[in-house]
Amino acid sequence: MYQGCKKYIPFRPISLPDRTWPDKVIRKAPVWCSVDLRDGNQALVDPMNLEEKLLYFQTLVGIGFKEIEVGFPSASETEYEILRTLIEKHFIPDDVTVQVLVQARPHLIQKTFEAIRGAKNVIVHFYNSTSTLQRKIVFKTDMQGVTDIAVKGAKLIKELTDKEVAKSGADIRYEYSPESFSGTEIENSVLICEKVMEVLQPTPEHRLILNLPNTVEMATPNCYADQIEYFCRHIPNRDSVVVSIHPHNDRGTATAATELGIMAGADRVEGTLFGNGERTGNADMMVVAMNLYSQGVDPGLDFSNLAEIRRMYEKCTRMKVHERHPYAGDLVFTAFSGSHQDAISKGVAYLRSGATEYWEVPYLPIDPADVGRQYEPVIRINSQSGKGGAAFVMQQSFGFELPKPMHPEFGRLVKAACDRAGRELQPKEVYNIFRENYLDVRAPYDLRKYKLHDESGDGDGTQVRFEGVLRFGREDHAIRGEGNGPVSAFFHALESVGITQYRFVTYREQAISSGADSQAVSYIHLTAPDGTPAFGVGIDNNISLASIKGVICAINRAERRKGEAE
Ligand code: KIV
Ligand code: ZN
Repeated sequence: MYQGCKKYIPFRPISLPDRTWPDKVIRKAPVWCSVDLRDGNQALVDPMNLEEKLLYFQTLVGIGFKEIEVGFPSASETEYEILRTLIEKHFIPDDVTVQVLVQARPHLIQKTFEAIRGAKNVIVHFYNSTSTLQRKIVFKTDMQGVTDIAVKGAKLIKELTDKEVAKSGADIRYEYSPESFSGTEIENSVLICEKVMEVLQPTPEHRLILNLPNTVEMATPNCYADQIEYFCRHIPNRDSVVVSIHPHNDRGTATAATELGIMAGADRVEGTLFGNGERTGNADMMVVAMNLYSQGVDPGLDFSNLAEIRRMYEKCTRMKVHERHPYAGDLVFTAFSGSHQDAISKGVAYLRSGATEYWEVPYLPIDPADVGRQYEPVIRINSQSGKGGAAFVMQQSFGFELPKPMHPEFGRLVKAACDRAGRELQPKEVYNIFRENYLDVRAPYDLRKYKLHDESGDGDGTQVRFEGVLRFGREDHAIRGEGNGPVSAFFHALESVGITQYRFVTYREQAISSGADSQAVSYIHLTAPDGTPAFGVGIDNNISLASIKGVICAINRAERRKGEAE
C-alpha cells in the first residue's frame, strides 16, 4: 500500500444539500478577464519583456477580451514601465479596461495609483489571503486580522479613486479577491467581502467585482461550485456585485471548475490562454470559450485563427502547447485508428450530402475550420489505420474516389508499407503506393498503341472497334476487336492474343482535375482466372481509353500476383 497518502488532510466540502447548479445549463458567455499578462507572466521562467507584453496585449484585444489584467505595477519597475507605455503610447482601445493587481498594503496601493494615471478605464484589483492555512502559517493572525487588512486597503483605494476621478474623470472600478477563497471557511469569505462592500458602497450601476479564487485547486470541481453557489446566495446586494471566478488547475480540473462555477452563478471568469499560470496553470479561457462554442453558445471571443494565437503565445512565453491540448494541439483533429477514420469519412460524406445543417461528424466535436485548421489532413496513416483511412487520404488530398470494394486491398498495401517503415506515412507516401501499384503497372502487358473507332453509324450492330499494339513476351502484337462498347471491344481484342479468362465485374468513372485540365479516372473490377478479384485503375483524357487502361492494369496486377505466388 502507498502509505504516504495518510499525511494528507482530505478536503472538507461545505454542506449545500439544496444546491441548484447541477441542473443549470450555460446559455450565455460570462464576462472574460484575461490574466495572462499577470498570473501567466509571473509563472514564466523568463517573464515577458515590454515588446512581448505589447504583442500579447494586442493579440488579447484582437481575440475580443474587454478586461485585461496587465500586471502588478507596484511589484517591479518593469511592470510599472510596461503599464506606463500602454497608457502613454495609447495602446489601450477605449472599449478595453486594463486591470492592475495590488496587495492590500498602503504603499503598494499608492504606487499603483501613480501607475494608472492617465488611463481611461481601470479595474483596481486588490487582494489579501484569507485561508485557514495562510492565516495559521503565513500571517499568524485570525479572521479579524485579515479582515482589517482588506478594509484598510479598501478605504485607501476608495480615497485615491475619488481623487483620481475628480482629477481625470477616469472610469475606475474595484475588484477584491479573498485570495485562497476555496481554502477559507465559506461564512468567513462572505463576511470579509461584506466588510469590503461596506467601504466601497457598490451599486447596480457601479458594481464591485468580488473575485473568488481557487488559488490552489484542492477538491473535485463540484466542491468549488457549491462554494460559489453558497456565496452568490449569501452575499448581500447581489445585484451590486459581479461574482468572478479564478480557477487554478492543480488537480487538472480547472476547466470543469470554471464551467461548474458559471453554472453555480458566477458572472465573470479570470484565466489565461492555453492555461498558462502558476504551477499547473490557470483556467484555460480558450478551452472554456470553445467548449461553449461547441454547445451553440457564442463565446464572444474569436479563436478562428488559433494557430497564429498559439505561435504568438509560444514566442512570448517560451512555453509549448501540447500535441493533445484541446482545440489547439497538433494532433487533436487527427484520427489514426481505423474505426475512427471510417466514421469520420462517413460523417464528412454525410455533411457533403447536405442532409444536415449541423456539424454531425463522429469523433470531431467541432469543425476544425472554426479554429483555422481546414487545410491539414484530418486522417493520418499509421499501422493502426484502417482501410477507410487510406481511401480517405486519397480522396481528401488527391481527389481519387476509390470504390468501396478496392478499399481493403489498398488498405492492406498501405498498412504493409507502414509496418515496413515503422512510422506514420505522409499523404504523398500514400499516393506513391497508389501510383506504384495502380498507375505505373506496365508488365507483363504493355499497351503501346490504342485507338477506338465509333462505328455506330455502319448499320451492322457493331458500335465500337478497338485497334492497338500490345507488347508482351518481348514482342509487339497487333490486336483488334469489336464490341458494343469500348470495354467489350477491348476484351474481344485481348481474346485475339489468347487472353480469355478474365471476367468483367464492374467499373466506376470519375473526373479528376490535375492542374488546369481535367482527366478521367476509371476504376475497373475484374475476376481473375483463379476467381479472385482484380482491380485496376486507368487515367486518360478520354474516358473510354481510361477504362481500357484500367482493364489492362487489373490484368497486369493479377498476373503479377500469380507470378509472385508461383
Ligand atoms: O490565484 C490567485 O488567488 C490569484 C489572486 C491574486 C487573485 O492570482
Ligand atoms: Zn491566480
